[in-house]
Amino acid sequence: MMGGRAARLKQAILGGHEALPWPPPAHSVASEGDRGLTTDSRAIGRNFDSADDVFNWLNNAIFGTAAINLANRAGITARLLEGPATLAELAKAGALPAPQLGRILDFLLAHELIERDAGGAYVATKRTALMAEAAGYFANTEVSTAAATKLLPGLRQGVTPFELQFGAPVFAHFHAHPDMAEAFGNFMSFMTRRIERFIFAEHRFQPFETVADIGGSMGALLLGILREYPGTRGVLFDLPEVVALARPQVEASGLGERVEIVGGSFFESVPSADLYTLKQILHDWHDDECRQILGNIRSVMNPGARLAVIDHVLSDEPRPDESISTDVAMMVWDTGRERKLADFEALFAATGFAIDRFTPNPAGHSVIEVVKA
Ligand SMILES: C[S@@+](CC[C@H](N)C(=O)[O-])C[C@H]1O[C@@H](n2cnc3c(N)ncnc32)[C@H](O)[C@@H]1O
Repeated sequence: MMGGRAARLKQAILGGHEALPWPPPAHSVASEGDRGLTTDSRAIGRNFDSADDVFNWLNNAIFGTAAINLANRAGITARLLEGPATLAELAKAGALPAPQLGRILDFLLAHELIERDAGGAYVATKRTALMAEAAGYFANTEVSTAAATKLLPGLRQGVTPFELQFGAPVFAHFHAHPDMAEAFGNFMSFMTRRIERFIFAEHRFQPFETVADIGGSMGALLLGILREYPGTRGVLFDLPEVVALARPQVEASGLGERVEIVGGSFFESVPSADLYTLKQILHDWHDDECRQILGNIRSVMNPGARLAVIDHVLSDEPRPDESISTDVAMMVWDTGRERKLADFEALFAATGFAIDRFTPNPAGHSVIEVVKA
């Protein structure tokens, strides 16, 4: 049974547009509130009031992403973050032709992503730093864009668009392409950093000795939890090829001594722990697959252990928020979906779990903590 606070919050999120408690953001990006935006003002339809708006919205999304990806990949962003640079210096650093790079820099200037100083040198701003922080996300959009071209034939043929485009389901494809797997892992770390502060400020975990992050990718969430909860230990569990990529990042964190790295499949078995975290895992899989994952966790949970599912929760009425665009993304990438709270409740009920605490996040991933029913 959910307590009174959880029930009120559930009502609030299901009710749609009410403001919910939300801490200030941890990083340099202005929050919705800071910019005076509401989620509704992000509706794509608001760009469809004129042909000019449609053209600009599409053109900027496609070519802005390309320009930012180029700046990140060629090391232009990193060079600017070291200090002001001339066009010739940047062209040399990026091994790029100066005339074309100058046009890309003009685009970034026009869109207020970089600046020029009085002497004409290009300089980084906090938005340039954000371009670098989000580099994994920008790189990942190239994969999303390619897979999304197969949405229509994929739905008609009953094959995931990703598989139609790349010839294998996403994680099998990553297995054969470690560079893509690493870029994806860095994208996931970016996603975790975005919501870390929300999780830690709004949802304190009850005392635990060992936390296992199942499908923990590069370890961003696990390392964050270990920093936040001194004296605890962690298990990073993911596919063997993924934990191999994560190991250097874990070792570089200075927390390696508190982390056990375990490679395996959550469709087979998972390690024992007092607290499990499953962030953006269930949304990758359809209900049957989720039941398998949840069943495998339940069968090895220590007595009194808890499971925190960290995922988007769709509102009952469609809203132009992050959850609903990620729901389409899941249709493109794999067999999963974003879920409403009632969908989660049904999944948990079918696998012997009950919701104990629910911390909704109207701007991103919510935390649903469950215990054995
Ligand atoms: C969407 S990512 C989420 C990563 C991480 N939890 C986060 O939120 O940043 C899904 C993760 O599940 C992992 N994964 C996929 N299939 C798996 C399996 N069968 N067993 C264990 N992990 C798996 C992937 O390698 C990937 O790291």
